[in-house]
Amino acid sequence: MYEAYASSYTIFLKNWQVKRKIALEMLEQHLQSSLSEQTQVSVLSVGPGPGEFDKQLIDFLQQYVAEGQALKYVVVEPNHIHRQIFEATMQSAGVSGVHFEMHPTSIEDFQTNEKFDCIHYTHSIYHMPGQERRLILESLNRLKDGGVLVITLDTEEAVIFTLITKYAEVVGNDQYWQEGSSQMMESKKLREIIDDIGLSYKFESYPEYLDVSACFEQNSEEGKVLMDFLFQANLRDASPELNQQLLSLVDKVAIEQNGRKMLYLPAGTFVMPKQ
Ligand SMILES: C[S@@+](CC[C@H](N)C(=O)[O-])C[C@H]1O[C@@H](n2cnc3c(N)ncnc32)[C@H](O)[C@@H]1O
Repeated sequence: MYEAYASSYTIFLKNWQVKRKIALEMLEQHLQSSLSEQTQVSVLSVGPGPGEFDKQLIDFLQQYVAEGQALKYVVVEPNHIHRQIFEATMQSAGVSGVHFEMHPTSIEDFQTNEKFDCIHYTHSIYHMPGQERRLILESLNRLKDGGVLVITLDTEEAVIFTLITKYAEVVGNDQYWQEGSSQMMESKKLREIIDDIGLSYKFESYPEYLDVSACFEQNSEEGKVLMDFLFQANLRDASPELNQQLLSLVDKVAIEQNGRKMLYLPAGTFVMPKQ
């Protein structure tokens, strides 16, 4: 299961036009002043996957970490393949001078008394249905004074949610959504939770796209992997009719850009200071 998810996520990342910089810019406005006071700057990354965003975050933080200050980067990632790829990503990026700590566990089971300057959930909160409120409160408790919690996720306008909902209708599966969530988490629902807790925050949303052209190429392995990812299902043994029906759903929500078929997957970032 972990292997399958990791390899499909690699294909997803390859086709995803993701704008990681916006979360970094939002963070910059917040952290610039607070980091200089620390002897050790520490970050907790929840569900880093292959570590593409983390690589950029570390690069960004190293600009602000002064001589004599240490940078500690704590990772909570239950998928062993993702942990391996994460290590390889950091190695090939030549990251040095960072003290990494890897926890092979889920965030729900992670325990620490450590306090962090930054905790981020970057496109990982979908995997913790029903736990969001508790995890936000727990994360705020794990921040140092001046620290910040950053959560990035798709907005409700992302067409992947339409596809997943349609898939549940097509296959008639009422049990499709995991227990504790009536739907996958998106930014509007997360905002309701954050507002309900009464937290102050900054939020920015921005367009991102996924190139799904491969789904329309006959016998494309990449296309098959993308279809599985889009519908969060294993369609290998599904009938050709079902596959065709699902492909026409993708076609309906796709838009054409420079001859490519693209899905609109806007994302949003919440930045919540410790309060
Ligand atoms: C969609 S990927 C996002 C990866 C990366 N942050 C990015 O933006 O590309 C979600 C990641 O969350 C991890 N994950 C899933 N459930 C988790 C949990 N309960 N606690 C921590 N991480 C989890 C998955 O293994 C996966 O690596």
